[in-house]
Amino acid sequence: MNPNEWARQRSWTLRGASTEYTVAVPEHGRWLELVAWGPYGVSDGPSPVGYDGPTPFLTSGDAAPIEYGTDAARPFAGPDLVVETANGGRRVSWGYREATGDERSLAVTFADPVTGLRAVVRYEMPAGTDVVRRWVELTNDGETELRLVRIGSAGFCVPTPHGARLSYQWGQWAQEFQLDQVDLGHGGFTVGSAQGVPGHLYVPWLAVRDQAEPDGPTWGMALAWTGSWEITADRDTGGLTRVRVGRHLPDGPLDLPPGASLELPVAAGAYSPDGLGGLARVWHDYQRQLAGERLGPRPVLYNSWEATYFSVDAENQLALARIAADLGVETFVVDDGWFVGRPDDHGGLGDWTPDPAKFPAGFDSFVADVRALGLNFGLWVEPECVSPRSRLYAEHPDWVYAIEGRPITPIRNQYLLDLGRPEVAEFVHSTVDGLLRRHDISYLKWDFNRPRTEPGRMAGTGRVDLDGAHVANLHRIYEELRRDHPHVVIEACAGGGARTDLAMAARSDVFWPSDNTGPLDRLAIQYGFLHANAPHLLSSWVTDSPGLFDPRPRSLAFRFVLAMAGVLGIGADIRHWSAEQRTEAAAWIARYKEIREIVMHGTVHLIGGPDQPRCAVQYTSPDAATVVVLAWHTGRLDGTGLLPSRPVRLPLRGLDPAAGYRHGEQHYSGAHLGAVGLPVQWTPTHDADLIVLHRA
Ligand code: GLA
Repeated sequence: MNPNEWARQRSWTLRGASTEYTVAVPEHGRWLELVAWGPYGVSDGPSPVGYDGPTPFLTSGDAAPIEYGTDAARPFAGPDLVVETANGGRRVSWGYREATGDERSLAVTFADPVTGLRAVVRYEMPAGTDVVRRWVELTNDGETELRLVRIGSAGFCVPTPHGARLSYQWGQWAQEFQLDQVDLGHGGFTVGSAQGVPGHLYVPWLAVRDQAEPDGPTWGMALAWTGSWEITADRDTGGLTRVRVGRHLPDGPLDLPPGASLELPVAAGAYSPDGLGGLARVWHDYQRQLAGERLGPRPVLYNSWEATYFSVDAENQLALARIAADLGVETFVVDDGWFVGRPDDHGGLGDWTPDPAKFPAGFDSFVADVRALGLNFGLWVEPECVSPRSRLYAEHPDWVYAIEGRPITPIRNQYLLDLGRPEVAEFVHSTVDGLLRRHDISYLKWDFNRPRTEPGRMAGTGRVDLDGAHVANLHRIYEELRRDHPHVVIEACAGGGARTDLAMAARSDVFWPSDNTGPLDRLAIQYGFLHANAPHLLSSWVTDSPGLFDPRPRSLAFRFVLAMAGVLGIGADIRHWSAEQRTEAAAWIARYKEIREIVMHGTVHLIGGPDQPRCAVQYTSPDAATVVVLAWHTGRLDGTGLLPSRPVRLPLRGLDPAAGYRHGEQHYSGAHLGAVGLPVQWTPTHDADLIVLHRA
């Protein structure tokens, strides 16, 4: 279709790998609405979300499947955008202007003749994915300042005629990514964060499906925004579930002066015909695309946090590094505690100089010693935070978020730098960039151990989009560091998993999902994580920690197989491991290196769950020739029964039923593995397994 024809028509279809997304501007031109969202061909038939009946006591906009609604279009059912004028008036009403695009992208422009606000509603479906990226650019073409009260990025309409089933993830520190669900008859459900960071409490991710078909068509939404956010699902009385996704403005409205523009973050929508598991694969493919050329194998790392905490010194780190190198570890990461004024978490942040007392022969000599063991070197930083006792704070007390005349709220004994300020951004960038230039560093763990509390600047400069400015500079700094130091792997961490969103997935290489490394706790965390995130993003360590929530003991093998589900690391105090434990560890690390390509690139099937007798993850290589199964025993380790017991069976997915698969001497047909399942027999000493099947 030529561009002129495209511009003349009023209905457009975007196509991804196997999904289509069709929208249309009705005759009246006041909004854009969804026609259908699903598999190829879904738009060919009456719209499953369309509505043209009367709307007694409502406006037609309240019932229509509007893509991006103002409070004029949806006065009762909740708009995506609320704008206030100088006199306190709150109505913006669109008129359709134009559209440009093709099968992969679409930009539809609307404008409001009264306020002069213009909105370009944008869509993109990256080739090879089943994800639609949606965002909006707002421009004030009028003469007076506008106040943005609510700035959603997108509304997603999902047909749920029999009731909506919503899956979401809740959590807390040390217990992130807890997958849960709620059935929504009528009314609303909201998750979000007002912390200036995605947060531990909820993940900016939601899955929606019809209650009558819980394993069938499933739609997902996620937000690429590293600040405060909100996702709201409302099921109306007519069976339509509308999900609003966007930034949350906990500090009040934003100003949009005449001539100014604001680009809202990308809200991503995913579709799969195969339930939550299928939806996870859509997100995995998308994040693998976001990683692009950086989707290489991540190094097996050792991180010394749990072994030495703040008591870092050259001697104890080298003792750990020597053993780590023998085990087959590739990168040695020194965590918190390496810099001046950091004997504990009461000081040091901001003064990013290696502590000469801890590295008496010099930091570079220490790094060289680590490298001489054949290891790459990595370092922990938390450059957005500052300790009140630091030199940085003494010199720049005005650099932190604060409200004049009021005390600042410390969290973990630290304040937060106002990264939105250019001089602070310059400090943070040059600090990290300087460390990477000065020292031989191949891995960076960037932490963020407190949310923002004070919504203001010391100088009291009027209303500022603090969240927006902080996040924009954070993203820019990550991008610049990756551009200038392409060989450095960046792990994003925020006291565990408080900073995992699609924008960070595009700018970092791996996420630290939780400080909880206890085996059964971690199993539940990783199970939720993998529903929203690809394995290459899952950093996981083998440690000696007991579980906080589920303290039942598990074997070293269990811990290894668990950490191998993503990017394997070791975090135990390996100085205390016995010779047998070290031999076992070296064997697991060697096996991981054999399978990690498949873990990074394979098709993931989540089997059972942490609260079920069956619990495994299957990774099928892109050429379907190799299937890696990681399986865990979730039950009590109280011995074999006296009655004959049969193995747990793990039904594998996506295999060719007619093909044969081999594991050692054992042969299975694909049909058997699918219909009956791969057997695993648990005993008190055998509580996890790694099974690699080769297509015969
Ligand atoms: C956070 C991180 C941990 C560790 C500590 C260091 O809690 O999540 O992994 O780096 O900070 O203080």
